[in-house]
Amino acid sequence: MDKRFASVHYAHYLQLDKILNAQHLRSGEVGEPAHDELLFIIVHQVYELWFKQIIHDLESIMEILRRPIVSEEALGRVVSRLRRIEVILDLMISQITLLETMTALDFLEFRNYLLPASGFQSFQFRKIEVLLGLDPSQRITYQGKDYKESFTEEQQQELRRLEQSPSLWDCVERWLERTPFLEFADFRFLQAYKEAAKRMIEEEREAILQASAIDEEQKQIRLQMLEQMEQYFSLVLSEEGHRRMVEQGRWRLSYKATLAALFIHLYRDEPMLQMPYRLLASLVEIDERLTLWRYRHAQMVRRMIGKKIGTGGSSGYDYLIQTVERHTIFLDFANLTTLMIPRSALPPLPPALKKALNYHFYAIKDGGVSA
Ligand code: HEM
Repeated sequence: MDKRFASVHYAHYLQLDKILNAQHLRSGEVGEPAHDELLFIIVHQVYELWFKQIIHDLESIMEILRRPIVSEEALGRVVSRLRRIEVILDLMISQITLLETMTALDFLEFRNYLLPASGFQSFQFRKIEVLLGLDPSQRITYQGKDYKESFTEEQQQELRRLEQSPSLWDCVERWLERTPFLEFADFRFLQAYKEAAKRMIEEEREAILQASAIDEEQKQIRLQMLEQMEQYFSLVLSEEGHRRMVEQGRWRLSYKATLAALFIHLYRDEPMLQMPYRLLASLVEIDERLTLWRYRHAQMVRRMIGKKIGTGGSSGYDYLIQTVERHTIFLDFANLTTLMIPRSALPPLPPALKKALNYHFYAIKDGGVSA
């Protein structure tokens, strides 16, 4: 019989005997069963399953982006899988509300039986951070220990290997660096953009100077802010300024990739740039959701254990809240919006470039094919 069509039973296919028998209450083992421990275990297990799905999607996304040429179809798959990760993260955030139906007192019934277990020891969570490209120099440590020390030797090796391999962040950076169109025939994106940005700033300066509704002091404050913005533009957009920003840890994305990402953001309405734009937007969405999850988790922890130290030995809430700011990954992509200029001020693209960025339709006319 053809193996592909052998009958499958729901319970067997889903290995329910394993999954449904994998909740062992510690409180039950010590003879003091706590009602809410089942919820606590199930919520954690479900998280781990979603982590598994995220890793599965991330690995396939990275495999595609590592290819020397990323076709339009493959890019579509990358974008839809990134979108799936966004939705999983939404679920992860809302699961915190579910866990919060357990009160601090309910949690105290079994918390002491969990030592020293902690989400800090989630191997898959660390894998996601590393695969996405969390900058190791940004990691907050506690007790002066490397986060990898929580794991077995084999897992540590795997994390080290991943840390030394290109992350999603690296794959996107390299993919961006290969973006064509920044210099196309006579068109020089950087030059055209700088001139447009300069004109925009001049117009704003003029508007402030002419405004009759604001007093002299306010005008000076606004002019100073405008000057800072001008400096920021020239810093990020000159190769030398960019290099200094990178050295000071204020920017991470390479100069070439930064310009390509800016080009994609500004000309996102061009058909060929819509998918690349959605990809970049998705990275910011994922980062934002992960940050939201960290924040919600930290709030829940404060609600559950107040100022107590964590079962994993950290300062608890104080440690977690620091990770909210510091463990962001795609910050440069979010910060690109500082460099946006209104559509009306965008330098127009030359017709040949506009055509190259468009889809090409072919119509069959009188038996012949015309473009
Ligand atoms: C009552 C519920 C929870 C409490 C009180 C709690 C508490 C904590 C604390 C205090 C830490 C810091 C490390 C430590 O000292 O242990 C931590 C880390 C962590 N927890 Fe939770 N947690 C809870 C639920 C969850 C859930 C449902 C997950 C889902 C997997 C989770 C995942 C994590 C992760 C991934 C970390 C490491 C975060 C990082 O280092 O950036 N926690 N948790």
